[in-house]
Amino acid sequence: MSEDLLALAREVGREAADFVARSRPVGRVDVAATKSSATDAVTAIDRACEELIRERILARRPQDGFVGEEGNDIAGTSGVEWIVDPIDGTVNFVYGIPVYAVSIAAAVDEPGGGAGPRAAIGTVVAGYVVNIPSGEEWAAVRGEGSWQLEGDQRRRLIAPDPPILAHALVGTGFHYVPEIRARQADAMAKLLPQVRDIRRSGSAALNLCEVAAGRLDVYVEQGLMPWDRAAAVLVATEAGIVVAGLDGEPDERLVMAAHPAISEEYFSLVRACGF
Ligand code: IPD
Repeated sequence: MSEDLLALAREVGREAADFVARSRPVGRVDVAATKSSATDAVTAIDRACEELIRERILARRPQDGFVGEEGNDIAGTSGVEWIVDPIDGTVNFVYGIPVYAVSIAAAVDEPGGGAGPRAAIGTVVAGYVVNIPSGEEWAAVRGEGSWQLEGDQRRRLIAPDPPILAHALVGTGFHYVPEIRARQADAMAKLLPQVRDIRRSGSAALNLCEVAAGRLDVYVEQGLMPWDRAAAVLVATEAGIVVAGLDGEPDERLVMAAHPAISEEYFSLVRACGF
């Protein structure tokens, strides 16, 4: 069943990515509204893309639940819930920086906790992330593995051995709320001298897939919502990466990701820095 959910996620995700690419005007995209702070942008295309994904998925699986970044959640009766970010990396999308993705996850079971409203999700069994400008595709099925997809080909992701922590390249992101961002900056100022460098490319979903592929060694972010992380956490864990939060499971308060060879040391360092 999880393979079928992934197939649907990919079919709909590719259509959604095409829609976003075709809809994007040249230059800067207008911001339709803001959410958690004045810098947390939503465009009309985010909303239309989420609507497209919701319609397509529920047309095929009308009993399923749906949670999307832009709202209009639907409670289902089938036990399967879809968790969708129509454009992860909206600020990049607005500015025309080619790092933004559609992220679609399918989860089963009861939501398992987490902080804040709409923060709880069930067990993610299938995940799909596509970088809209490049077309690069990432996918995972719980218990089966994760892959980079190229047409009909699947290239299995196995996270490569990491460097020592002092040489690790850290992916991260910052919250939209200024006070939280200030605390994150303090913690990052402590972490930065102890690692190779940091990258903040603007899409948490793509960053977690990049850890799975070895393009980043480790990752840390606070404030990631379910739609930012659901699909990509599965891509990372199925590639052999350890993904954790404050009390074990990653949640809105904290997401840390690292290869098992350095995960304990890295997670301790992250916490010691104040994340
Ligand atoms: C954001 C991106 C960004 C991360 C933010 C997210 P959005 O998602 O994933 O990299 O740092 O925390 O909110 O708002 O573009 O869907």
